[in-house]
Amino acid sequence: CGIVGFVGQGNAKDILLSGLSRLEYRGYDSAGIALYSRPFTVVKAVGKLNELKKKIAASKECELPCSMGIGHTRWATHGKADEKNAHPHLSMHKEVVLVHNGIIENFADLKNFLQEKGYSFYSDTDTEVAVNLIEYFYLKEKDVLKALLAVQKELKGSYAFAIMFKDDANTLYAMRKDSPLVVGKGENGFYPASDVSAFLDYTKEFYKLENKEILSITENEIHIYNKNGEEVKRSSTVAELDSSMIHKGEYLHFMEKEIFEQPQAVKDTLLYACNQENNCFSYESFSMRERDFKEISRIRVIACGSAYHAGYVLKSVCERLARVPVQVELASEFRYNHPILETGELVISISQSGETADTLAAVREAKKLGAKTLSIVNVIGSAIAGESDFVFYTQAGPEIAVATTKAYSCQLVAGYIFSLLLAKAKGKINDTEVHSLKDELFLLPGKIQQCLSLDSETLPMAKKLKDDKNIFFLGRGLDWAVSMEGALKLKEISYIHCESYSSGELKHGTISLIEKNSPVIALISQEDLATKSISNIHEVKSRGAKCFAFTMENISVEENDFTQILIVPKTRPLFAGSLLVVPLQFLSYQVSLLKGLDPDKPRNLAKSVTVE
Ligand code: G6P
Repeated sequence: CGIVGFVGQGNAKDILLSGLSRLEYRGYDSAGIALYSRPFTVVKAVGKLNELKKKIAASKECELPCSMGIGHTRWATHGKADEKNAHPHLSMHKEVVLVHNGIIENFADLKNFLQEKGYSFYSDTDTEVAVNLIEYFYLKEKDVLKALLAVQKELKGSYAFAIMFKDDANTLYAMRKDSPLVVGKGENGFYPASDVSAFLDYTKEFYKLENKEILSITENEIHIYNKNGEEVKRSSTVAELDSSMIHKGEYLHFMEKEIFEQPQAVKDTLLYACNQENNCFSYESFSMRERDFKEISRIRVIACGSAYHAGYVLKSVCERLARVPVQVELASEFRYNHPILETGELVISISQSGETADTLAAVREAKKLGAKTLSIVNVIGSAIAGESDFVFYTQAGPEIAVATTKAYSCQLVAGYIFSLLLAKAKGKINDTEVHSLKDELFLLPGKIQQCLSLDSETLPMAKKLKDDKNIFFLGRGLDWAVSMEGALKLKEISYIHCESYSSGELKHGTISLIEKNSPVIALISQEDLATKSISNIHEVKSRGAKCFAFTMENISVEENDFTQILIVPKTRPLFAGSLLVVPLQFLSYQVSLLKGLDPDKPRNLAKSVTVE
């Protein structure tokens, strides 16, 4: 979920709607705003932000000038995505209204407590419990800060709240624990929000709130309190983002824009990893020393979704280059598998947002077990980065489309560089090989650029696949790792069931699903495995499958075997994934468009999943 607020000189309604449109990537099951008035004006709507805009346009109350308000865009957790469960939530006596991102774990106990005190509830949400608890303490303490401090002691779980009190016409409050919260400082007011993009159209200057801090803002004053209620001093930061980075510009969708940004994002990530003086990849870019690399005896990668797939590419490259064993695990499973971590085992978390709850929980578990943790994240200062011993920042810039493209590409590159540095530290490759690999990596942005022209070639393929119900992706070794991402991309934005299978494993079960015209997409970029992969293609083709190939220059594949063959430029086989993934992204994007869907906001999904 995303939260936003505004207090100051300006039209709160428009500012909130603009902020929500930037935060929609965090969920779009419903949206709502509350404007300060006596009583509060609350408008909520199920579905994407446009539905809310229509309701606001039709509301007389919303026409009145208003300089303070809060807004929310929801990814449903407690209770279905209907209007009563949509935020903002009002307390029973209508003293308090709030929006919430996170999850209150002990909401059932707190609800019982409040019910005993005479409270009743209209929704199924944990948030309504929180707002009533605030009201309960507020009516008891008659002091906002005291009430919020008392509530903080009671709540278990994660939250970022923006809160208004009926008795306080000029002050907006906010507080957080484990869910992100920043506050923009504009010339005419303050903008609390889940992330900077919400207010980037108004200001770049912002303050970051730490865990268990409470914020109180008026038009021109800001106060931050720690968990003991003492005021803390905080200096502001200037966001390095430009507001053009969060607009679609000439593109139809953010996904398309982000696919096209990949050459630059990959180049920026390569440069980030380089030592300024001698232009070599540096251990320090991972905030590690050579000694830290030397001490690594095993690696455990934990991540979710596409980042998990990037983990498989890292495994393949790292095991080949550095000969260090790598195990890849779903972050959501890690904690519950009674993990055994050996001395010298480095735990690497990969996450675009740096705030995925499953990944964060896994990092905490790994630390509890005494492991050293490295995170590869895209968002500076995010929770996962903050809690890891070491961090490498991918340089994808803001990624807005729910289906990741450029952030995944940068994660691959981070994995290559990590593997190369580890191989170097372990003495597994000599200087000449280090340089040759590095030179090849610096050719990748140009080759990715060449792949961008493949969009016209993927279109006929997209047309042939758009009406299929099941699509099989096949690959061996590294190609299998990349095919997992290809299948996920296509299924998440086209709603076609796609699965990736290791080419060799198919015959041990799944091949029974192959019938006449079953679509099979084969990834064949690894020269040493090509013959084997092609034999597997013959197995499905002889059973009627229609096959498509994504392959690399210089690999010989028979035209007769395939309905269409797509060829990416030649690179070292280790880095082939960076090129193959581009036409796979185009294919998904085009199928989504051909089916009349919104690729930027696929149903049921959110980009940052901050609940377990
Ligand atoms: C969500 C998104 C996925 C993403 C995953 C991990 O489920 O829908 O696209 O890959 O989270 O996100 P992260 O921010 O940790 O990379």
